[in-house]
Amino acid sequence: MSKIVIFLGPPGAGKGTQSQLLKERNGFIQISTGDLLREAVKNQTELGKLAKQYMDEGKLVPDDLIISLIKEKLQEYADKNIIFDGFPRTIPQAESLDNLLSRLNKNVDAVILFKIEDEEIVKRLTGRRVCPSCGAVYHMVYNPPKIDEICDRCGARLTQRDDDKEEVIRKRLEVYHQQTKPLTEYYKSKIVEIDVTDNPNNIYNKIASMI
Ligand code: AP5
Repeated sequence: MSKIVIFLGPPGAGKGTQSQLLKERNGFIQISTGDLLREAVKNQTELGKLAKQYMDEGKLVPDDLIISLIKEKLQEYADKNIIFDGFPRTIPQAESLDNLLSRLNKNVDAVILFKIEDEEIVKRLTGRRVCPSCGAVYHMVYNPPKIDEICDRCGARLTQRDDDKEEVIRKRLEVYHQQTKPLTEYYKSKIVEIDVTDNPNNIYNKIASMI
């Protein structure tokens, strides 16, 4: 039976980093609403045009847009082990996910809550660089590329996300505490908390042993 796992936690906690490791080492499918939205913005689709203004301001994109994105992806990957990275982020999104999964005779198996202080998040996000070509994620201090600003995997020049400016990061943190943290109560019977101030490999080992 395939597994459905949710990574819940503040922006910059390392959800994307850990999803990548589970994808590479354990064959999970990563469904990241943030990545899907950035792709839509890049391709200038209708969804991308609508989402951009919310993302640039650090606000959440409206639930109905997110839910239709997820519906599509769930149909595509119904029989796979899935990690939801950055979804759900509101109670209505969590309720919709439960409805969609019950139609497929499935449910959420585990919710991993990433725990980290806000000030450490600001350091992680202001130092983050991403590869626009292959999607690899780096940090200028914690995980620098071998050649400055160049992707180790594909050689493209690294970029900084538009929403990784300090004022937008602080807004994203405020939105997390107000709108997403209440999900810890919604999922209280399934949540496992992990301290994510350790190095990525040790965190991966903890998560892999849980799921
Ligand atoms: P999204 O892309 O989901 O961003 P986020 O949740 O804010 O998370 P991030 O991608 O910033 O961080 P992460 O936890 O993946 O950390 P990472 O592994 O990169 O969302 C962006 C926007 O899209 C939202 O603001 C919203 O507008 C919209 N959106 C998306 N989903 C939505 C939804 N469901 N509903 C409504 N709106 C939605 O790591 C961060 C940095 O730290 C990296 O540099 C990394 O190298 C480094 N790092 C990682 N782990 C470690 C470690 N253990 N030690 C040291 N450094 C580390």
